[in-house]
Amino acid sequence: MTQRDAFGHETTTDQVLEGIDLTGKRALVTGATGGLGAETARALAGKGAEVVVTARDLEKAKGVVEAIRASTGQTVEVESLELDSLASIRAFAERFLAKYDSLNLLVNNAAVMACPLGHTQDGFELQFGTNHLGHFLMTCLIAPALVRGAPARIVSVSSLGHERAPVDFDDPNFERREYDKWASYGQAKTANVLFAVELERRLGERGVHANAIHPGVIPTDLARHLHAEDYDEMRARAKARGTEMKLKTIEAGAATQVYAATAPELEGRGGLYLEDCHVAEVNDGEMIAFGVRPYAIDPDNARRLWELSEKLVGESFPL
Ligand SMILES: NC(=O)c1ccc[n+]([C@@H]2O[C@H](COP(=O)([O-])OP(=O)(O)OC[C@H]3O[C@@H](n4cnc5c(N)ncnc54)[C@H](OP(=O)(O)O)[C@@H]3O)[C@@H](O)[C@H]2O)c1
Repeated sequence: MTQRDAFGHETTTDQVLEGIDLTGKRALVTGATGGLGAETARALAGKGAEVVVTARDLEKAKGVVEAIRASTGQTVEVESLELDSLASIRAFAERFLAKYDSLNLLVNNAAVMACPLGHTQDGFELQFGTNHLGHFLMTCLIAPALVRGAPARIVSVSSLGHERAPVDFDDPNFERREYDKWASYGQAKTANVLFAVELERRLGERGVHANAIHPGVIPTDLARHLHAEDYDEMRARAKARGTEMKLKTIEAGAATQVYAATAPELEGRGGLYLEDCHVAEVNDGEMIAFGVRPYAIDPDNARRLWELSEKLVGESFPL
């Protein structure tokens, strides 16, 4: 058994990257104003990658970039990207492709969680629109840079929260059903896994591999919309499934996405769902504490989501 086989819940970004040199690799991390995105950017830059991060609030990103520069000596570029605006995504992709010829690592990390009912600037339900459709359009637009950067990897940051709901193909935007903030988050996080499955099918043969991950439970700003009763409910769910809500540090929380982006043992592999720096098992229990639901890795669902997403963003991507 190697040290890497022993990776698990407590493993940190720096442990995952031990002995790995990312010099000459270009990485793009979305939503790096704090939390797991900022730590992912720091860890990749610390190993020599040229890192570009995106933020919807450039002021907020300044401190993160300064801290990375101070701790790693590396300069990190910041680009403006509002994932709840198709116009902002298109403008970002145009700037990105004009500035950078190729991309080796893409970490689709940004998200909102369990917010009150809201809509993106184009009228999509906020969690599905931001967490899935935003990343869908952005990734498809910059995919040529990934193909030029092959071997390249895409990491879709999902969540165990995917277990709360599949994608409702008939009403993804909650137009004809009552809004439920957790069903919405679950649907969006299922979509993140399905997107990786379909990206792998379309791009894998060209050396661009996509995997989805669950980071763990980490205290970050993601919880900004939660109330005391949400924590009570989460603890009750954990108890009902015979587990405890075991928190991770930010460094351990970002480890699985950094692992998916860099682990040599994942070379050439895609369409997987990872947790605790390992490939997770398929699990269709009543209330699951680990693993991935079958509906989230179903290839037919993945194709269907791609087609629905193309329709919603108004553009086809014959990748
Ligand atoms: N923390 C956990 O326990 C946990 C568990 C499972 C999965 N995850 C997943 O891990 C990823 C990172 O989460 P985190 O915990 O690091 O959360 P976080 O600290 O709240 O970071 C989320 C990032 O997404 C950005 N973002 C949100 N809406 C955006 C929009 N419309 N356009 C552009 N950027 C936007 C945020 O920007 P602002 O700073 O401007 O808001 C922030 O940079 C998410 O995909 C989340 O679903 C986290």
